[in-house]
Amino acid sequence: MKTFLTANDLGNLQSAVHEALELKKNRYAYKQLGENRTLLLVFFNSSLRTRLSTQKAALNLGMNVIVLDVNQGAWKLETERGVVMDGDKPEHILEAIPVMGCYCDLIGVRSFARFEDKEADYSEKLLNQFIHYSGKPVFSMESATAHPLQAFADLITIEEYKTKPRPKVVLTWAPHPNVLPQAVPNSFADFMNEAEVEFVITHPEGYELSERFTRGARVEYDQRKAFEGADFIYAKNWSAFRDPHYGKILSKDRNWTVDSAKMALTDNAYFMHCLPVRRNMIVTDDVIESPRSIVIQEAANREISAETVIRRMLSALG
Ligand code: CP
Repeated sequence: MKTFLTANDLGNLQSAVHEALELKKNRYAYKQLGENRTLLLVFFNSSLRTRLSTQKAALNLGMNVIVLDVNQGAWKLETERGVVMDGDKPEHILEAIPVMGCYCDLIGVRSFARFEDKEADYSEKLLNQFIHYSGKPVFSMESATAHPLQAFADLITIEEYKTKPRPKVVLTWAPHPNVLPQAVPNSFADFMNEAEVEFVITHPEGYELSERFTRGARVEYDQRKAFEGADFIYAKNWSAFRDPHYGKILSKDRNWTVDSAKMALTDNAYFMHCLPVRRNMIVTDDVIESPRSIVIQEAANREISAETVIRRMLSALG
């Protein structure tokens, strides 16, 4: 595996989940695989879980890990070609990326949507520059359109907690004060569409996601109806995708907050969220603190999804 951005990059998803669950039983089994190999993690945006879980995964595999926070201590990077660099950015990304590639064997990149240019975001311009110019295998640690390590961890978690062969999984939009990317719901939809689940998306009108990721999944605009009989409720905020509102907040309606009355409509569903979560905006205190909340277990599985992906990439290095 040379890149990791979509569910498709994992091949057979059921096999990948099985592999991950086996790895979870003995996460140090491949300690020799990463010996004398270096993973570079490049962060253009903040992180808690991705930063820690990906480092932990690489350490489990015996790798060295180096971390670059681009906005803290590195030179400011120009990303556009043809720019006369007489401003505050002393280095061009087209030199910076191959230089980064000199110091490592694999690269993980976190770079969120900028919401300046939808086409640039949805063509994964920055991530693709790393893929093309680093000379090294690259995986997304949440890029402009996708957060596949999160979605893979989510699927592993659903596999662990499901009590039916084909559980009902509901992705619900919920309110948030700030503009958030579509990366998490995009990848969640991408993975759920390939998984053995009944997948339903619920959101206010205007929050339709890209068809590239939803691929005809059922959309139910009545949140309460969507929750009926659900086995897993996956809450997340995202900003509008469709033109002319790309990257805009259309609603902060707290009637969409996940609360215990709505959870009572489900089949005793588990509550999931990728974290960080805004309490009493996305979900009420009592729901996230309830025994049916599996947000911590979900975050713990980020180590396992990352280790599975890095192990495959190391194996492909030969
Ligand atoms: N879920 C997730 O990616 O968390 P961080 O933004 O803290 O890495």
